[in-house]
Amino acid sequence: MKNIIIIIVIFLFAGCKNSEKNKYDTWREYLGGPDRNHYSTLAQIDTGNVKQLAIAWTWDAPDSGQMQMSPVMVNGVVYGVTAALKVFALDAATGKELWIYKDSLASNGTSRGVAYWEEGNDKRIFITVASNLISLNATDGKLISTFGYNGKVDLHTGLPDEAKDKFITSTTPGTIYKNLIIMPVRVAEDAGAAPGHVKAFDVRTGKLAWTFHTIPQPGEKGYETWPKEAYKNINVGAVNNWAGTAVDVKTGTIFIPLGSAAPDFYGGNRKGANLYANCLLALNADNGTYKWHFQMIHHDIWDRDPPAPPNLITVTKDGKQIDAVAQVTKQGYTFVLDRSTGKSLFPITEIAEPPSKLSGEEAWPTQPVPSLPKPFARQISELTENDISPFAGNKEELKKIFIAADKRSFAPPDTNTVLMLPGYDGGAEYGGAAADPYKGILYVNASEMAWFLKMKMEQEFNEFIKNKRKRMGRNEGNTPTLAGEQLYTIHCVACHGKDRVGNAISGFPNLTSIAKKLTQQTVLQVISNGKGKMPGVSNISKEEKQQLVDFLFGVEKKEVVSIDLSKTPVDKYIHTGYPKFLDDRGMPAIAPPWGTLTAIDLNTGQHLWQSILGITPNLPNQDTNPTGCENYGGPIVTENGLLFIAATKDGMFRAFNKYTGKILWQTKLPAASFATPAMYSVNGKQFIVMACGGEKLGTAKGNKIVAFALP
Ligand code: HEC
Repeated sequence: MKNIIIIIVIFLFAGCKNSEKNKYDTWREYLGGPDRNHYSTLAQIDTGNVKQLAIAWTWDAPDSGQMQMSPVMVNGVVYGVTAALKVFALDAATGKELWIYKDSLASNGTSRGVAYWEEGNDKRIFITVASNLISLNATDGKLISTFGYNGKVDLHTGLPDEAKDKFITSTTPGTIYKNLIIMPVRVAEDAGAAPGHVKAFDVRTGKLAWTFHTIPQPGEKGYETWPKEAYKNINVGAVNNWAGTAVDVKTGTIFIPLGSAAPDFYGGNRKGANLYANCLLALNADNGTYKWHFQMIHHDIWDRDPPAPPNLITVTKDGKQIDAVAQVTKQGYTFVLDRSTGKSLFPITEIAEPPSKLSGEEAWPTQPVPSLPKPFARQISELTENDISPFAGNKEELKKIFIAADKRSFAPPDTNTVLMLPGYDGGAEYGGAAADPYKGILYVNASEMAWFLKMKMEQEFNEFIKNKRKRMGRNEGNTPTLAGEQLYTIHCVACHGKDRVGNAISGFPNLTSIAKKLTQQTVLQVISNGKGKMPGVSNISKEEKQQLVDFLFGVEKKEVVSIDLSKTPVDKYIHTGYPKFLDDRGMPAIAPPWGTLTAIDLNTGQHLWQSILGITPNLPNQDTNPTGCENYGGPIVTENGLLFIAATKDGMFRAFNKYTGKILWQTKLPAASFATPAMYSVNGKQFIVMACGGEKLGTAKGNKIVAFALP
């Protein structure tokens, strides 16, 4: 009798474990599931047969270019979105197009994918185009007119009046929790940015269900960490979750990584620790009430937004199982917190950091640094002049630049040059990390690219406008302002350069002959909605946008709208741009590796292995001694020992052994895939599907969705 009971107990236990595990054989949600672990228990493809993988089908999108999109697969249908934000549904077994939806507003912007919700026969897809959250019928791709206003909800809903015309969109799919969709948002990064409040909408009606103020209002916890007026959104904004969230459905908790406050690099208007900027914030997913927060950077002046949703994993510590949440960061740290309390599982030291020399700025005196895990990317403070790239032709020149730059880990932005490593983009990026949820192992890819950070005083910048106008024979006062040019100087110069030549190597296009390449309509859309790394521009009117376009297209205007600079929220110090530290051939100026893949045991905090990710084809010995390369887009990992990743600038797709970090198989993609793949099974066949759009990092454009399977 006793034996039978034991057997039954074991059986029940095994059964329970199994149903837990079954949740990992689908890919119905962004990055595999609500815990965002990019993890699958499907096992047809294994370490033995992975070499036989071949393209099973491809689908040609009607447009081409950068796709950061990671698809979902539900009921035999793959759903995703193209470079020009057209939502599509494909037969998951054959790639045959079932429907495609193109919003008239679409054509520009970035989308990392769609969200899926169903109840009975009501099946819906959610996508954001410009400022609209859109609901489509998953069966035929038609707008669901009963959602919001004719199928759309404006993401300005729930924002203060100040922000009604400001730039807002969402580049990451919303998180479905019960009958809510909880929305990540992207806003501008300058002084005129909208606030990044977290909002949940009813999936059926589109009604706003709850709002959490990420810049707290009077009486709310955290209000004391800002100047009194900050919440009014006059010259402080953002603190938005653009990277997406993870949700623990067992406890009804949503984990929200929040970005920095705006303006990004000058915090004179926002003295204080700035809660909930740079926090991992835990809310009750049902009603948006506060549970806990953990701030990863105090008073961020480096744009160190957490770049990806956190991973929900279980770790064992001192023999005890702990439900944990792990957040990878741009600076290469991994914060591992107890999911129920927000307490770090490894000691955190508040390290004293240097003060700012910019007038009006108060850098926070300390920053939290985890004792473990150690960073998964090199830190600038560890580098010496011996770490200049051995491939550079101008080593001596680079050494001088390197020596002159401020290389302290939290060197505050200054009018002298600061060198950042990891750079603005990390470290970890939007691809985030994959994880073995039960074993507590995290797999994260990183770029190791140094970038410069330099500030300039606003007065000099006004001087620049004045001088330019004088040269054009116009004086200040009542003569018409060169509005387009002035607007360009305020909003565009940091990235596209004074003379509009951009910086091709760093990924900022030349705009001097934009008229030959794009229509006015497209440029207007880019200005409003952003594109790739470019944020849409907030705080300028329709007329002003047209002024900008006229300026870019060289149209002479008789009547021009005059812009009163004193009314435009400008930063006291402006950021001068995003140049990378490169050598005379345009390659990274620091020694390789330039791309890595690291497996971290979150039970012990130790790295299990680190491998080089990617090659630089024009450099020698890449087979035996690869350099690694820049990468965007994450890995996926399987229970049976495989890790798949594309992401690299070299345009390859690779399978690694997840236990050793050794490459098992690789193939060239039709265009580089800067996106996280998805894994699913249909009709008994296991597929890996990914978006190959190229374009980023100067790679060739592509338009293919590619699915691999065993022959
Ligand atoms: C934060 C940096 C940044 C700022 C500020 C910025 N841009 Fe951009 N812009 C970019 C990047 C990066 C791209 C390339 C996007 C992509 O294709 O991924 C781009 C692309 C463009 C394009 C499309 C170019 C092409 O060849 O396809 C236009 C047009 C453009 N920007 C205009 C502007 C204008 C006008 C402003 C000012 C209102 C502006 N940008 C401000 C970074 C920026």
